[in-house]
Amino acid sequence: MIKVEKLSKYYGDVKAVKSIDFTVNDGEILGFLGANGAGKTTTLKVITGYLMPTSGNVYVNDMNILEHSHEIQKQIGYLAELNPLYNEMIVYDFLEFIAKIRRIEGAAYKKALVRVIDQCGLSGVVHRQIGACSKGYKQRIGLATAMIHDPAILLLDEPVTGLDPNQIVEIRELIKELGKEKLVMISSHILQEIQATVDRIVIIHKGEIVADGTSQELMSGFVGNTQLTLEAHKVNDESLQTFAATHPAINVVKTEDLKNDHRILHLEYAKEKDPRTEIFKFAVDSGWVITEMSPHQIELENIFRSLTKEGGSNA
Ligand SMILES: Nc1ncnc2c1ncn2[C@@H]1O[C@H](COP(=O)(O)OP(=O)(O)O)[C@@H](O)[C@H]1O
Ligand SMILES: [Mg+2]
Repeated sequence: MIKVEKLSKYYGDVKAVKSIDFTVNDGEILGFLGANGAGKTTTLKVITGYLMPTSGNVYVNDMNILEHSHEIQKQIGYLAELNPLYNEMIVYDFLEFIAKIRRIEGAAYKKALVRVIDQCGLSGVVHRQIGACSKGYKQRIGLATAMIHDPAILLLDEPVTGLDPNQIVEIRELIKELGKEKLVMISSHILQEIQATVDRIVIIHKGEIVADGTSQELMSGFVGNTQLTLEAHKVNDESLQTFAATHPAINVVKTEDLKNDHRILHLEYAKEKDPRTEIFKFAVDSGWVITEMSPHQIELENIFRSLTKEGGSNA
């Protein structure tokens, strides 16, 4: 488990992270979402022990990072944002090199190599030069190096950024598979890249946490109206006025008049009240001929955008 308590990190005058709190539970894949410069990399580097916090506490499996950084680093695998690799090296030699740096020795050495090659799907490229591998494979190699010591926790900083859609799907599958056994925290500045992979989302904006929950929780907690477009023929002024008078909970935002009482109505109502059946009955009674009725659900992307827009705040 990772527990972050009132964590702040300043670089001189730059307040990169401002008293944030969140936890990541074992067996969970957490998406850490925020625009560029929001404070994601800084937070991840503090958790791994590469950066000292300015104030606050971070516990990894109940150990404080300030007191047990060495032990914690054994339990964490970290894939940095710009995953640096030696392009001229052969994949297998590179993995051997990383295992040696990690001081994995004896029987464990061969086992570790076999394990990461299998876990990261690298068997087809082990004899290839790293520079000759696709971006997707380079990311797998980065993952393999982050996992060579078999950590229980994986922190992945923008692991799918820059990959093409097919590669994103492949890495996503791999991360999901790894997430069955490990606690995984993935950062991203693009919601769509991680939404399908993660169990829960924490959104950081200008160094502050502005949302924390599952996709469902974030969407249901967001107060807003449902918009509905209704297109119908034979909608005369009189029936439209009757509709407005008899349905006070439905706001007629706008009407577009096409030819001969053919109209498009833009309606809005509180999201927990779905009046479509009622609208349909009214239409039948009034002789309206409905050709389209489509509600527009609030999407998580809109919530993310409204929480993180420039100048926006978490007030
Ligand atoms: N070494 C540093 N020195 C000074 N400012 C930094 C440093 N690293 C990051 N920052 C600033 O801290 C803020 C958060 O950066 P970062 O954690 O990299 O955000 P993210 O990973 O979400 O893009 C930004 O304003 C960035 O410019
Ligand atoms: Mg970053």
